[in-house]
Amino acid sequence: MGTPAVDTVALPWAERCSSLVGSVIDSSTALLQQQKHDIVRFAMGSPAAEAIPTELLDELSGKALREYGAASFDYAATEGDPALRTALLDVLAATPESTTSDRLLVTSGGMQGLDLASKLFINPGDLVAVEAPTYTNGTATVLSYGARVLEVPVDEDGMRVEELPELVERFGPPRVIYTIPNFQNPSGTTLSLPRRRLLLELAGRWGSVVIDDDPYGWLRFSGDDLPSLRELGAGNPLVVSVRTFSKILAPGLRVGWVDADPRVIRRMINAKQAMDTCTNLPAQLLVAEFLAGGHLADHLVGLRPEYRRRKEAMQDALRQHLPFARFTDPDGGFFLWLTLPDEVDTSALFDVALAEGVAFIPGRALSASGAFGNSLRLCFASTDPARSLEGVQRLARAVHSVH
Ligand SMILES: Cc1ncc(COP(=O)(O)O)c(C=O)c1O
Repeated sequence: MGTPAVDTVALPWAERCSSLVGSVIDSSTALLQQQKHDIVRFAMGSPAAEAIPTELLDELSGKALREYGAASFDYAATEGDPALRTALLDVLAATPESTTSDRLLVTSGGMQGLDLASKLFINPGDLVAVEAPTYTNGTATVLSYGARVLEVPVDEDGMRVEELPELVERFGPPRVIYTIPNFQNPSGTTLSLPRRRLLLELAGRWGSVVIDDDPYGWLRFSGDDLPSLRELGAGNPLVVSVRTFSKILAPGLRVGWVDADPRVIRRMINAKQAMDTCTNLPAQLLVAEFLAGGHLADHLVGLRPEYRRRKEAMQDALRQHLPFARFTDPDGGFFLWLTLPDEVDTSALFDVALAEGVAFIPGRALSASGAFGNSLRLCFASTDPARSLEGVQRLARAVHSVH
């Protein structure tokens, strides 16, 4: 009996495979790596290469290796290595997000926090309210657990929370509300204080879990800090706060944390054990050294003005070269949201722009319903002002050639 040709064998896909939608954002990393020509990269939400303290990290990883020897390559405790947990609790103790050991889980980046929260609370068919536009890796995660997505529009004060009751009348209460309160990815807008309060009140009324995804909160470069959902909802078991070192230190480390009710954390530990056992230990030890050595505060003090300078440089370039475009004015974080005339389709623009030597994320890729066809996301953080000007000039050439 011969073996059938590989591509004629029907694979017995699980039903959930149809909900594994992937991420245009992440796919752009591989796509850009394949390009041979020079590209200004406004697409990925990566910190500036110059913002990664490589010499210090080299020194600290050597220190960790000398201190822990072979043990630094062993399995770690699922909840996180004790050195990192202690250092992180100490750092948080000096912030309004001071927390306790039983509320803390070290994760493999913020994405794992989103996945664990979704795994614990979403049944197939459940409604999940998300911002429109939003970080579609977040919606990809909830969709992978079979959620139905309810989009809530965003304006300059973040999610239009006051529209939720009407949406709930029409569609029913959401099981989960997913929000990025600070310098939202992709719009750059920040959820106002009254809306934060209303969101928690409504979530309490409906028994909805609030996934408070805040990778950028410590990167505010103008205006005053607002109390986080974690702070406003202190002790509220419905609030699950997802945090990461990806934007404030380095994304390749894949180290983040969740702060949530101890019951939630205990279940998350079980789920993580069935997922990846523990977060990469050498990376945890490196972050532990970074925090325990007191380097984070200085690092953030250096990042904030630099990111502000980069945002302003990009905005100046946009005003000069794309005067008819509208764009947001974030007080922190990484992203600007740019809106072009209605008739410009930024998905089609993407290929032209790539050929021209500039990359961005098209608006449609940042909304569950594929809206925002004439908008796009630009990451200002990764690119220095001179190069940013070059990128915006290339973008303008691409826009003029399609419009
Ligand atoms: C809003 C938001 N949440 C979560 C993440 C994922 O973080 P991590 O890279 O640590 O998994 C990102 C990264 O872009 C993000 O912007």
